[in-house]
Amino acid sequence: MEKMIMVFVLAYLIGSLVPGYWIGKIFYHKDIRTEGSGNIGTTNAFRILGPVPGCFVLAFDILKGAFAAMLPHFFGLDINVMLVGLFAILGHTFSIWIGFKGGKAVATSAGVLSVYNGPLFWMVCAVFVTCLVLFSMVSVASMVGFSFATVMSIFYYHDLILSIVAVVLTGFVFYRHRQNLGRIFKGQESTIPFGLVYWL
Ligand code: G3P
Repeated sequence: MEKMIMVFVLAYLIGSLVPGYWIGKIFYHKDIRTEGSGNIGTTNAFRILGPVPGCFVLAFDILKGAFAAMLPHFFGLDINVMLVGLFAILGHTFSIWIGFKGGKAVATSAGVLSVYNGPLFWMVCAVFVTCLVLFSMVSVASMVGFSFATVMSIFYYHDLILSIVAVVLTGFVFYRHRQNLGRIFKGQESTIPFGLVYWL
């Protein structure tokens, strides 16, 4: 029982690591929470700090989700990977290091999913990239990717735990993107130089 609690706490603490915020502060003397979209995730790190730190934040946030999801395996425990991963996602979104605030759950959830269901992870990546090519907006690609994962969990995989987690997370991701949604409807969402909408 203690080992199990330790795994959940560890997953939360790993998820709590906030490279976007720390890299900005330490190397660029910038608080990315007060610039751009104010998010600590990959997109805002790209926007405010540049492509190299942006790529690092993306890799780190995905890997921390994947690593946390593998904790049951490391500790030889039979706990559902998705449930442990959920604690890492909670850590990322309510980080202990920045006053229980945090990111929008996208990259860390992707990392957890990569361990839980590899084929679904790659399908979500394909949907994500397709949306980026079409719309040039990371926020749109993120919300469509989560929605796709939810539909697949319920109607294709018939996986109860994954379906519940996917429904809850998708609702949360839409909530966290509420300002992005406002900008999208006003035609003011920032685009990335990749894909059709940016060049139209
Ligand atoms: O992962 C977050 C992304 O979907 C949107 O980021 O900075 O444009 O709000 P941002």
